Amino acid sequence: MIEVNGRTKVLGIIGNPIEHTQSPAIHNMISEELGINAVYVPFAANDDVDAMIKGLYALGVRGVNVTVPYKTDVISRLSGLEDRALRIGAVNTLKYTEDGFYGYNTDILGLERELTDEGISLKGRDTVILGAGGAARAVAFLCASGEPSSITLVNRTPAKADGIRKDLISYVREKGMEGLSSNIEVIPLDAAGDIKGNDLIVFQCTNVGLSPRDGECVLSDKAFYDKVSVGVDLIYKPAETVFMKNVRAAGGRAFNGLKMLIYQAVSAYEIWNDVKVPADLIEKIERKLG
Ligand code: ATR
Repeated sequence: MIEVNGRTKVLGIIGNPIEHTQSPAIHNMISEELGINAVYVPFAANDDVDAMIKGLYALGVRGVNVTVPYKTDVISRLSGLEDRALRIGAVNTLKYTEDGFYGYNTDILGLERELTDEGISLKGRDTVILGAGGAARAVAFLCASGEPSSITLVNRTPAKADGIRKDLISYVREKGMEGLSSNIEVIPLDAAGDIKGNDLIVFQCTNVGLSPRDGECVLSDKAFYDKVSVGVDLIYKPAETVFMKNVRAAGGRAFNGLKMLIYQAVSAYEIWNDVKVPADLIEKIERKLG
């Protein structure tokens, strides 16, 4: 148990609801294992984002994670933010600086580290994103920076995915990836079986299948799953979603979002505390939460 004293660094998370967050367990375990004098607490926020950020800053809170529904609203209250977070339009990590809080998006760093860990490279691959909410938008930018040969955005409401498509196209053009810019498509959910390619890497970014509705899946078309070689579900509860079961039943490899969750926390912790969290500790956290 962490012994709190006058020099304890305070870290925490704002969100609403916040009761089910796993972040305090991860961060406090890291502090305890590394012998760092810090404590991480949940802040049950009240929707006055301005007051929240001013209050946390005035009290000298050194690091703050931001979760639903504040990831976009906090941006205008920051002293600055990294380019990646700016493009995605969402911030999940704030670091205390002399000028105010500085914003990062470590959700995406987390997913990037998960893919590296599993030996998955997006370069030259056909990638598919299911969903068009905040999570899907972030994953779409991660995909683009991995230089795939195509990105297909699949959503129940295609118009929503079209907004992401337009932003992605400007991004990849700016980066000089002209080839990719003409291979970013939107298709409706009920046409997913017609996607081209046989070796797809698919990211499941909807909330369908999340516990307690864990018997559900956004897509059940077998013709689609036959083309999938890797499926990553951002959900980590349950540990095996119906989406993952479908991918595996068709012979593909499937992963849940637990590593992404852990790595986004680890990346935030490293930003705040100027340390490197060792691999054996990351494995220990995974065993505890898995
Ligand atoms: P987040 O910010 O966590 O990504 P969100 O913005 O609520 O969450 O987005 C949820 C995504 O899941 C959306 O793409 C949504 O589809 P729509 O854009 O058509 O609303 C998708 N989604 C949620 N419930 C769904 C369902 N029952 N069937 C298909 N898609 C669903």
